[in-house]
Amino acid sequence: MRIRDLFIKYSSKIDLLDFELIVAHTINKSREFVLAYPEYKISKFKIENLKLKISRRMRGEPLAYILGHKEFYGLDFKVNENTLIPRPETEILAELALQELATNNLQPITIIDIGTGSGNIIISLAKNSKSCRLSVVGCKLFGVDISDEALKIAKYNAKKHKVVKKIKFLKGNFLNPIIKNTKYQIPDAKYVILANLPYLSEKIYGSASREVKREPKSALLSAEEGLSHYKKLFAQIKKLSVVGCKLLVLIEISPEQKNRITKLIKTLFSGAKIRFFKDLAGKWRICKITL
Ligand SMILES: C[S@@+](CC[C@H](N)C(=O)[O-])C[C@H]1O[C@@H](n2cnc3c(N)ncnc32)[C@H](O)[C@@H]1O
Repeated sequence: MRIRDLFIKYSSKIDLLDFELIVAHTINKSREFVLAYPEYKISKFKIENLKLKISRRMRGEPLAYILGHKEFYGLDFKVNENTLIPRPETEILAELALQELATNNLQPITIIDIGTGSGNIIISLAKNSKSCRLSVVGCKLFGVDISDEALKIAKYNAKKHKVVKKIKFLKGNFLNPIIKNTKYQIPDAKYVILANLPYLSEKIYGSASREVKREPKSALLSAEEGLSHYKKLFAQIKKLSVVGCKLLVLIEISPEQKNRITKLIKTLFSGAKIRFFKDLAGKWRICKITL
């Protein structure tokens, strides 16, 4: 069967771009190749594989899970049904973190990505370390997640991007693996805490698309109208701030949480500097807290 024949058969069933990407992935060629060579003949074996992928897509499985990867901050990340699919709005968090590290004197520094998932944020930082002060000796990078399966993928991605020696991946509840292990605490260190934790309320999760609902619920949903995870993280951060650590916290939020998050931070941390940043859709998405 030629690419053209497949196109005629399936073009009304799935999105055109998805079709092109699935074909390209199956025949191990680029999307440009698929577009340029409609006469290319695909083997019987590959056709079966292709049909399977197309039917998965038709049943609402996210394209990134079918292809097994997703781009984030210009890098390719392996993803599967145990990891959230990295979102473009999270790139703002990575970008802001890199800007902070490049402009502020935060050495010696410990950077912790809480809820690392596929490792997309911390790996992007490690890969771009030369553009800021991260290359200085004494810098420590951590990725923490409560899910063993997600950590497996994060480690795979760190190896793939050749930064596995730069990042320590730890299993645990928020900051616990750091707080409970003195060997990870550095006297006078500054901590940069990055987190894209689950933040969807029951209501927002309930109205999410069927595609989003194919992603792990434990990566998306948070009790207390989406704030339960951040409340718990803040309580742990409070412990670090009390012992005199200098802290910079960057978290991704749901836009409607801006006022409640502000209130929460003000009641927990006196003197905290709070700033919010919008995503490309003009919605409040990132909160920066300086303690
Ligand atoms: C929204 S996903 C973010 C994944 C990735 N950082 C990204 O930006 O795409 C949230 C992640 O937090 C993890 N998580 C949920 N509860 C956690 C907890 N109590 N401690 C650490 N990680 C947690 C989930 O397993 C999931 O990987």
